[in-house]
Amino acid sequence: MAQPAPRTGATEKPSPKPAPGIPSPIANPNPIPNPSPIASPDPAPANGTPYAPCTSRLPGFYRRTVEERRALLGDVLSAEARAVIAAGLSIDVADRMSENVVGCHGLPLSLALNFLVNGRDYLVPMAVEEPSVVAAASRAALFARAGGGFAGDADPPIMTAQVQLDDVVDAGAAARVAERRAEILALGDSAIPSMVARGGGCRDLEVRVLEGGLVVVHIHVDVGEAMGANVVDTVAEATAPLLAEVVGGRMGLRILTNLPLRRLARARVAIPVATLGGVEAAEGVVRASRFAELDPMRAVTHNKGIMNGIDAAAVALGQDWRAIEAGAHAYAALGGSYRPLATWRVAGGALCGRIELPLAVGTVGGATRVHPGVRVAFEIMRAPRAGELAIVMAAAGLASNLAALHALAGEGIQRGHMRLHRRRCVEGGGDAR
Ligand code: MEV
Repeated sequence: MAQPAPRTGATEKPSPKPAPGIPSPIANPNPIPNPSPIASPDPAPANGTPYAPCTSRLPGFYRRTVEERRALLGDVLSAEARAVIAAGLSIDVADRMSENVVGCHGLPLSLALNFLVNGRDYLVPMAVEEPSVVAAASRAALFARAGGGFAGDADPPIMTAQVQLDDVVDAGAAARVAERRAEILALGDSAIPSMVARGGGCRDLEVRVLEGGLVVVHIHVDVGEAMGANVVDTVAEATAPLLAEVVGGRMGLRILTNLPLRRLARARVAIPVATLGGVEAAEGVVRASRFAELDPMRAVTHNKGIMNGIDAAAVALGQDWRAIEAGAHAYAALGGSYRPLATWRVAGGALCGRIELPLAVGTVGGATRVHPGVRVAFEIMRAPRAGELAIVMAAAGLASNLAALHALAGEGIQRGHMRLHRRRCVEGGGDAR
């Protein structure tokens, strides 16, 4: 399938510089370059199931009844999987997922349509309470198809452990850590044998001095298909005693960072301006982008619109959306002022947009293991690999952003938004004002 044309016009978002409050590493012994990004989805499904590709173009889907929509998924899902969706989460499973459980809290499970990402069609499951999020993402994804869809890439799945060391007295700590690098990484690996057996493991470390006496050691871990928090926390705890001995300090926190700077995902799109209703509409999106680039008060709302799509997919797919949110906003602020995660420009007769953010998502462990609805959501997406999932979620964020800016710069969002909101209020017996 056609790929989007090269995006010569979209402004390159400069790689974020460390914020003033984030000291640079003082030593990075034997640094490895960031491994090459995943340029396109790995066609091999994560669990080996040979899912046939499916179209995400289902015109008129929104006009159908719920039953008809489920029936239309007959090509995508087995009857058992459709029954799982219909049944929702059982109280027994819920009781195993959390503590003090008294019931199940439901959310609509919807499908965002029209997503074409790196030449492949995706129905994107979204669980969200806000009206118009799914419709808006689907509409923008349809615009994107006119330019060949979204293109994207994701860094390999490197997560970072932080080990805090206090009361460090001498400045030679970094050099000593460098000397013992292989031993420290091997100790970390010995704590995560099954991850190492699957091809992951500790890859690199670095030492940072945050202030006199307070040193933090980062250990970068390839977590494979996992989101990786447990793996990385295990590495942090396993290596901390040795690090305290080598650095000569008192052991403090041992935990991952939710700002995984080596695990970024990117998506791009170039849409013919005619598809958007002409150059004026496209320029309206660009002016909205500039507003967000210049004003953190606007950037935060711009990014909220991006997270509408990303979070909705994250919830449906059982991802740690709190971690994703925390990482996204920290990344937006990394250059010292809060910036938009996605930007837009017009070039060569097309509206060109791009997004970049850290996305720690996994296809194994956590809710993906225990929640039957999450497993079906993965089936709907044809069992993507973790990097592929990150790319599609970045595309969902870019689509949500485009839909919001296109509406805001045009007729405003209230007409469409309030139409859906009114429907909810009427159905809920509430006040539609
Ligand atoms: C509402 O959920 C999201 C928007 O506010 C995003 C934006 O302003 O860009 C419409």
